[in-house]
Amino acid sequence: MTILVLGGAGYIGSHAVDQFITAGFDVAVVDNLLTGHRKAVHPAARFYEGDIRNKAFMQSVFKKESIEGVIHFAASSLVGESMERPLLYFDNNVYGTLVTLEVMHEYGVKRIVFSSTAATYGEPNETPITENMPASPKNPYGESKRMMENMMRWCDEAYGIRYVALRYFNVAGAKLDHSIGEDHTPETHLVPLLLQTALGQRESFTIFGEDYPTKDGTCVRDYVHVVDLIQAHLKAYDYLVNGGKSDAFNLGSNEGFSVKEMLTAARQITGKEIPVKVGPRRAGDPAVLVASPQKAKTILGWTPEYTTIETIFSSAWSWHQTHPHGYAKEE
Ligand code: UFG
Repeated sequence: MTILVLGGAGYIGSHAVDQFITAGFDVAVVDNLLTGHRKAVHPAARFYEGDIRNKAFMQSVFKKESIEGVIHFAASSLVGESMERPLLYFDNNVYGTLVTLEVMHEYGVKRIVFSSTAATYGEPNETPITENMPASPKNPYGESKRMMENMMRWCDEAYGIRYVALRYFNVAGAKLDHSIGEDHTPETHLVPLLLQTALGQRESFTIFGEDYPTKDGTCVRDYVHVVDLIQAHLKAYDYLVNGGKSDAFNLGSNEGFSVKEMLTAARQITGKEIPVKVGPRRAGDPAVLVASPQKAKTILGWTPEYTTIETIFSSAWSWHQTHPHGYAKEE
């Protein structure tokens, strides 16, 4: 039996493929390679290039493979972009998941673990955020993920497809042997942008707003190491195999770092100055997003290992130093 990883050539998906294979699973990957990289996919995985919105293509993969469960990363995931192109998010994320669920139902596949997000909460007044807090997304990206969660809930009710929604906070870092890491074009995420600036690939790093109601006026986020994040997917899959009921879990660290604190840590780890400018706020950005990961720890038995900001930066820094052009040279 095979695990089907949707979006397995992307930053987070490629780490999942790697760890599921290391854990002994047989893995097949679907990716349209719009943002993913063929080179990021573990060579032991069978690869199908195509789009999850293409039902005939998805049916052909389900027909060929004996799929026991789906791990779903195939989605658009940028808050800023979603404010400018909301319909792209409803198409790729919501419609893509609808097709996935239709085909799962057709082929009798009853388990799915998928990437949800902190952005589903919007901006709760209380911190840290727990799973039962009300959902009030501040951007179309968060809204699309919330809709995906709701679709799953009704598919469980009607068809018995059980799901685990993992609500990621800010994922960063790279595999410790720096064989896979983060490579987006264009890059919009804080950690890789700081490191590309440290490498001299960018003139400066722009802080998006320093007038937020936070400790130093810059946005506060909860950073989680990609390797730990994927460990939670293995635990979540195990939980479903053992009969666990459909549920949502936060994946974060309970600790918030401001943009300025991240800048200081990046300067320390790289030993580079990292020139900075201050710009206006970016639309759709909440001031503070910090998770309580207690539920994932208690119910899934998740035990993150790489919990310091230094490990996140040093693993990402060694990926950036060894792959200054990401996967480009290898493709
Ligand atoms: N930031 C800057 N300058 C930049 C880039 C980012 O100041 O050039 C700031 C942002 O304003 C934000 C923080 O750094 O406050 C982190 O920004 P990212 O773009 O790295 O990440 P986001 O918080 O916007 O979003 C990420 C993922 C989402 C996920 C969310 C959950 O991209 O998919 O974390 O917290 F939903």
